[in-house]
Amino acid sequence: MLWTDWSLKWTTEGPSSRSSQQPADIVIVLADRQAVDGDRQILNSTLDQALKERVRRGVYDGKPGQTAMFSTLGLQPEPYAIYVGCDAAPYSLKALRDAAGSVGAALLEYRIRKAAFVLPAGFTQSLAEQDISAASQALMEGLLLGLYRRNSRALKGRAQAELSEIEFVLETEDARREWEQGLLRGYLAANAACYARELTNEPANLLTPERLAEEARSLAMRYGLDCRIYDENEAAQEGMGGLLAVGQGSANPPRMIVIHHRGNPESSETLGLIGKGVTFDTGGISIKKAAGMEEMISDMGGAAAIMGVMRAVGESKPALNVVAVIPAAENMPSGNAFKPGDVIRTYSGKSVEVLNTDAEGRIVLADGLETALRQGATKLIDVATLTGAVMHALGDVTTGAFTNEETMLDGFLKSARRAGEYVWPLPTYPEYRSMLKSDVADVKNHGGAWAGAIAGALFVHAFAQDRPWIHLDIGGTAWMWSDRGFESKGGTGVMVRSLLEYIQSEAEEG
Ligand code: BES
Ligand code: MN
Ligand code: ZN
Repeated sequence: MLWTDWSLKWTTEGPSSRSSQQPADIVIVLADRQAVDGDRQILNSTLDQALKERVRRGVYDGKPGQTAMFSTLGLQPEPYAIYVGCDAAPYSLKALRDAAGSVGAALLEYRIRKAAFVLPAGFTQSLAEQDISAASQALMEGLLLGLYRRNSRALKGRAQAELSEIEFVLETEDARREWEQGLLRGYLAANAACYARELTNEPANLLTPERLAEEARSLAMRYGLDCRIYDENEAAQEGMGGLLAVGQGSANPPRMIVIHHRGNPESSETLGLIGKGVTFDTGGISIKKAAGMEEMISDMGGAAAIMGVMRAVGESKPALNVVAVIPAAENMPSGNAFKPGDVIRTYSGKSVEVLNTDAEGRIVLADGLETALRQGATKLIDVATLTGAVMHALGDVTTGAFTNEETMLDGFLKSARRAGEYVWPLPTYPEYRSMLKSDVADVKNHGGAWAGAIAGALFVHAFAQDRPWIHLDIGGTAWMWSDRGFESKGGTGVMVRSLLEYIQSEAEEG
């Protein structure tokens, strides 16, 4: 598989049992504004003095994103110490995740194998939400997400972080169970998100639809999930005309990927997760401009998110039914490519007038939603790098959300908030539907100059058969052009953690 687990060992220690341990390579402490201004010891009086010297010079003030790294020169059992800025207490989950995330670069640079995270006295009382398991999950997620860098395994060999052990030094032994539960959840979630990043970062010559399908098959094998792959012939037999049209211009044929997790056989509900898997989007005959086109290796970011989710689902086996569907195709211009003006028949039977071959995502999703419904999905969430227009609305900060069922979306937004991923609703009022009216087919795939993200969403909605449905447009958030916090340049794995939170809350509701 494309991403081997971190194979990280983590432990929790009470403050006293610590001395018996093999010292770590680095000790990590939170040093927010309050800690820096106050006169309580943070780590060690001499090192604290050195930190305050930096504060006097104005190079450190405990703000989020700041770190101060020191060689401890015998003052500590660990050779290095790092102070990390943070939004001051009460600590929100986001503040903790961000703080832990900013340590990542140092762990990489100093080739840290074992880290010790020392929590401040009174930590539990300083949590904004008094939820230790959520707080420890956030710390673990931040650390691991901050540690990830794009580094194509195929081209450079695997040289990810060397971290193999983290010790969390707790103020008391009281809540160890909650700590352990949170750390495990954080580990699974971060591992899943890094897998999604790795898939997204893989260049399109290496990750073709066929390779993506092989990857899905080995993922399913590894966790004992049911997997069915439709190759181009089977897709043709089934009548998946949307997937085939988008893929027909490429020498790399399309695939329809289906993975089942049947975690609650008693239930009649199945959550369908559909991820846009365009392994490269040139725009086809409606070709894109050259500058920046390489970003379109990330046009399978939705598929990557779903693969990441299924990895964590495979590992934790939550008590609900999930069917994951990935329509995978490469959108190329060629003598065989589909063309503007073509009228195609999708898997659902609905016909589509193609006005722009660069609006291909919604066409493969149409067949993806239909596949999910035929496989028993009773509600749907699709994740797709669907439009550039969503970036005009929300930039590269926030994922756009669309729905036909406000209560379902409310539940999802709550999950996203816990995960610390920004998601914001955009409207789907019926008046917008006139954008997609076609003279010659049931719908057209391009709605004109305005409200492009909504047009894309409403096109997809036409294939949801009025089941509860959420569409997540990650066109602005699946890929970063430069590092931002714990998101490094390249694929972000966005929506993996929100979806996992959602799945967890759905499974708990039963
Ligand atoms: N994959 C793109 C959307 C995209 C563009 C995501 C840039 C991230 C960065 C999608 O297939 C596309 O090309 N959409 C078009 C639709 C238009 C032709 C209606 C767009 O948004 O420009
Ligand atoms: Mn496109
Ligand atoms: Zn696309």
